[in-house]
Amino acid sequence: MKVAPSLLSCDFAKIGEEIERVDRAGADLIHLDVMDGHFVPNLTIGPGIVKAARPYTKLPFDVHLMIDYPIDYIDAFADAGADIITFHLEAKSDINDTIDKINSRGIKPGIVIKPKTPASAAFPYLDRVYMVLVMTVEPGFGGQSFMADMMPKVVELKKECKKRGLDVLIEVDGGISENTVSAAADAGVDICVSGTGVFKAEDPAKAIAFLQDSDKK
Ligand code: DX5
Ligand code: ZN
Repeated sequence: MKVAPSLLSCDFAKIGEEIERVDRAGADLIHLDVMDGHFVPNLTIGPGIVKAARPYTKLPFDVHLMIDYPIDYIDAFADAGADIITFHLEAKSDINDTIDKINSRGIKPGIVIKPKTPASAAFPYLDRVYMVLVMTVEPGFGGQSFMADMMPKVVELKKECKKRGLDVLIEVDGGISENTVSAAADAGVDICVSGTGVFKAEDPAKAIAFLQDSDKK
């Protein structure tokens, strides 16, 4: 399994050093949570911070947009150095137009579903996306408890992709740690996001290695 540490749990005053720290610890991608105070009740970072963070690693930037109108900000995040942009099916921009816009910038598109959204809502877009992100907490804050009851959605998405011969990555986000990752591994998750589980770990390299090896156990 690949691991994407979420910068939401890092020390924002030292964002460059924090990125270097998890890069050295073996991270596969860097997950950046963008919140607008409308789609979710929290405000985080915008394209300016993403751009400032970009020179500190060569790892792919996995930008998770929790904003009402993702299509309006694709150019800004593309210019800032995003490699993957995921946006919510529950947001207000047209979904196909947003995927088109992300593709037009040469970036990999992904769609995200909140806990109450069924896996089937993603089915119409599976042949158009690089990744589906299944939220395992209500989006908005780090440090919440993992919802193991989201794993059937992962299994359903994997099954549907296989049936249609599609190679779409399934990512999970929220509450992933050494204590919860086995459920994700069993369900066939390809990438796990981990904020608290990596940044607050005593030994981030050990925490990342544990998550990466969870599908080998
Ligand atoms: C929540 C964010 C997550 C969050 C995960 O809305 O999308 O990426 O930072 O943090 P942990 O791993 O602490 O649940
Ligand atoms: Zn996220």
